[in-house]
Amino acid sequence: MDIELKEQLVEAALQVRGHAYAPYSRYAVGAALLTDDGKIYTGANVENAVYPLGLCAERVAVFKAVSEGHRKFKAMVVATENGGAPCGACRQVLAEFGLDLTVFMINAQGITVRETSLRALLPVSFGPDDLPEKRCR
Ligand code: THU
Repeated sequence: MDIELKEQLVEAALQVRGHAYAPYSRYAVGAALLTDDGKIYTGANVENAVYPLGLCAERVAVFKAVSEGHRKFKAMVVATENGGAPCGACRQVLAEFGLDLTVFMINAQGITVRETSLRALLPVSFGPDDLPEKRCR
């Protein structure tokens, strides 16, 4: 991936991490998602006093992008304190839009701790193609 674009994604993920609302876990997460036409959508985790209602940064980013009309994605950068990995629920939600997504996990210093693909993160996945051809898209 283009080094400048990667840098832009890293900066976006670090910046949005600053908007995380995580008073309960104190684990701030920022995500930056690159669309196939070069736009960047960001998300931060948003927690709630009713704990299970909180949402991960990755899903905030993908829901923002999809609700703005994007369904094809190239890469995601996930920024945490320690370069933590996206949770299983976020992997599944991302997989809906294709497994050919490059995923970078970075730490709070902007260092890439791991670079992988969604395909590698979610092997033998269940997706839209596993459902009968009756649904509308
Ligand atoms: N979190 C994310 O935002 N993304 C992940 O993939 C892992 C976990 C958030 C959820 C919760 O607000 C906090 O991190 C601790 O689990």
